[in-house]
Amino acid sequence: MGVFLRLHLLLFTLSLISTISTYAHNITAILDGFPEYSQFNNYLTQTKLDDEINSRQTITVLALNNGAMSALADKHPLSVIKNALSLLVLLDYFDGGKLHQISNGTTLSTTLYQTTGNAPGNLGFVNITDLQGGKVGFGSAAPGSKLDSSYTKSVKQIPYNISVLEISAPIIAPGILTAPPPSASDLNITGLLEKAGCKTFASLLVSSGVIKTYQSALDKGLTILAPNDEAFKATGVPDLSKLTNAEVVSLLEYHALPAYTPKGTLKTTKDPISTLATNGAGKFDLTATSAGDDVTLHTGVDSSRVADTVLDSAPVSILTVDSLLLPEELFGKSPSPAPASEPVSSPSPSPVTASSPAPVSKAPSPSAASPPAPPTETPGAAPADAPVGSSENSTTDNAAVHVSAPALFTVLVTISATVVSSVFLS
Ligand SMILES: *[C@@H]1O[C@H](CO)[C@@H](O)[C@H](O)[C@H]1NC(C)=O
Ligand SMILES: *[C@@H]1O[C@H](CO)[C@@H](O)[C@H](O)[C@H]1NC(C)=O
Ligand SMILES: *[C@@H]1O[C@H](CO)[C@@H](O)[C@H](O)[C@H]1NC(C)=O
Ligand SMILES: *[C@@H]1O[C@H](CO)[C@@H](O)[C@H](O)[C@H]1NC(C)=O
Ligand SMILES: *[C@@H]1O[C@H](CO)[C@@H](O)[C@H](O)[C@H]1NC(C)=O
Ligand SMILES: *[C@@H]1O[C@H](CO)[C@@H](O)[C@H](O)[C@H]1NC(C)=O
Repeated sequence: MGVFLRLHLLLFTLSLISTISTYAHNITAILDGFPEYSQFNNYLTQTKLDDEINSRQTITVLALNNGAMSALADKHPLSVIKNALSLLVLLDYFDGGKLHQISNGTTLSTTLYQTTGNAPGNLGFVNITDLQGGKVGFGSAAPGSKLDSSYTKSVKQIPYNISVLEISAPIIAPGILTAPPPSASDLNITGLLEKAGCKTFASLLVSSGVIKTYQSALDKGLTILAPNDEAFKATGVPDLSKLTNAEVVSLLEYHALPAYTPKGTLKTTKDPISTLATNGAGKFDLTATSAGDDVTLHTGVDSSRVADTVLDSAPVSILTVDSLLLPEELFGKSPSPAPASEPVSSPSPSPVTASSPAPVSKAPSPSAASPPAPPTETPGAAPADAPVGSSENSTTDNAAVHVSAPALFTVLVTISATVVSSVFLS
């Protein structure tokens, strides 16, 4: 194989890599061109369903015009509206033509609602049926449901990435509108955290008083990033009893965002994200990267995978994370390892009672500061925000964090690394 062919292959590979992380579509921008869907568009933004839609390829959005949308929205809280609208996002591509070519005239399609974990049984599927006289009916897949919504017109197609179709009315799955919405101010945060395996975190919130800060933020939008109990036991977790009370408060406030930010939104957020600890004195922010459905948070000191969604009920989102999030402002970014003599002690369950003041800018060794676990992490290696491909060798480990198609990316990186070496060796 000639050098030119190899170089050509390399360039082709690199150009493929650069397109992977860009988004194919923006539902908000698409609907902006159609004022008759402005309310629907507005609710996609409020419920953050826009981020879910933009982060997926091959999707069909069943849009409601302003009349149909306000009939739904006037009677229900945001969390219920979100469930109802997520049933209108089909994880498949249907344009007007395909609707009329459904084999045997009827089919079931999966929706975003099915992926939320809020849908029991097959309630997250919709039935699409080609009816007499060219009409296409939509209904819940639950047995006995009526097809009481129908296709009215095609709005926009970007084959085969996204299709927007107008339907006459919302698709109502049994119970979707009557499920009691948890009122934000009634949420028992510690109860939910305990059930989700985050007892240590919950008890720290209570003993430090930070739970009150969380509660008062509930109505305006709150996202909790709760480390599970294993995260506190991981080797290398800094000794929390060495922190001052104020530092513990900052650390706990760092584990919450002052906005409704479900996992799908973290997936699409490229800018630094403020936390409850963010104030004039320190940024206390973090960044997120995604690979497929996985989201990893980066603090500048360590990284943590987002594990489970405990609660997604606009305007409150509770997510669990695999590792403690260690803010740079407390744990510093230290390029050189700390003295080996520094003992690594296990975390105390109630560090708030320990009053020994610790220096704010203490810098534990990178390996001590980075809890283990997430396979995507490379402790002590390049900083989390290093550009993709900055180190040719370890890209397979490093880079998967930064793009949304890890397996493909890994393959491509491997190919390009092979091509690079064969170009230079021949
Ligand atoms: C569909 O999405 C792919 C992948 O993001 C993109 O390369 C392609 O250009 C998109 N198609 C259109 C017509 O925009
Ligand atoms: C999508 O489009 C809207 C409106 O045009 C814009 O405000 C928003 O920033 C865009 N989102 C992304 C992720 O580009
Ligand atoms: C369509 O109907 C035929 C006969 O009724 C059946 O054999 C076939 O499995 C059906 N196809 C699908 C995709 O349901
Ligand atoms: C869709 O609903 C219609 C009417 O209730 C029913 O006859 C049909 O079998 C359903 N389709 C599927 C694929 O379940
Ligand atoms: C919250 O849940 C915990 C654990 O389930 C329980 O002990 C506590 O009493 C609950 N608090 C309220 C205010 O309901
Ligand atoms: C690449 O790997 C080789 C062998 O494992 C090692 O000697 C070299 O230092 C590595 N280079 C980089 C840039 O990591």
